[in-house]
Amino acid sequence: MEIPDEQLERKRLQAENTELATLAGGLAHEIRNPLSTIGMNLELLAEEMEGDDSQRARRMLRRISSLQGECRNLEEILNAFLQFARAGELHLEDGNLNTILTDYVGFLEPQANSMEVELRPHLDTDLPVVMMDRSLMRQALVNLCRNAIEAMPDGGSIDLLTRTRGDQVVLEIIDTGKGMDEKTRAQMFQAFFSTRSGGSGLGLPTVRRIVEAHHGQIVCESEPGKGTRFTISLPAQR
Ligand SMILES: Nc1ncnc2c1ncn2[C@@H]1O[C@H](COP(=O)(O)OP(=O)(O)O)[C@@H](O)[C@H]1O
Ligand SMILES: [Mg+2]
Repeated sequence: MEIPDEQLERKRLQAENTELATLAGGLAHEIRNPLSTIGMNLELLAEEMEGDDSQRARRMLRRISSLQGECRNLEEILNAFLQFARAGELHLEDGNLNTILTDYVGFLEPQANSMEVELRPHLDTDLPVVMMDRSLMRQALVNLCRNAIEAMPDGGSIDLLTRTRGDQVVLEIIDTGKGMDEKTRAQMFQAFFSTRSGGSGLGLPTVRRIVEAHHGQIVCESEPGKGTRFTISLPAQR
């Protein structure tokens, strides 16, 4: 039984989350419109330069293209920020982690294979149902697999395991990538921490927010040169 004080505190936190997500959504919208105008105008400028072979035109085209790259970065950061803000807002229903995993693996496989990354699911067929927000759980999986692929520029493999441990359902994502040193491991869940140029640094903080909103836990083991394992455990439905 949950004591009323805890219930109240949880309600307050939920209301705060919703307000923050709404604010973030509004802000992102306000930024996105002018940003897309800037992008469109850059595109038009680039078109006007077409066919002009002068040095000046080429110099301007280079600058336009670097501005276009910055616009794309800003858009990505905006999307990651929105995802982060929304990660605490759950729409709970009965779900099976195996289904989410199988769906996503099917979707990711062509891209992974083209990057020499092999996806290897090992699913426990007796996995209990979990109360979850399916689209957020998929988002968590997406963020973790993206990081794994980015950590394997020369290819490798990702093992995706599900299993039961006591009253928990466990998901493991194990890559054979470059791994993390102690300093990176200590900071990886901090908002805006990234070792990649152009990285938002919001991927893992979003994953953690999603897992914790589900009353679950996330643990990481990683060694430079060896690879990385993320273990997520969620309470199973009785
Ligand atoms: N699977 C992984 N292998 C190696 N390093 C990782 C892995 N996942 C995350 N990291 C490290 O954690 C940092 C933060 O990850 P994340 O929050 O997703 O932000 P981003 O991907 O934008 O850098 C990454 O920049 C990287 O240094
Ligand atoms: Mg990432």
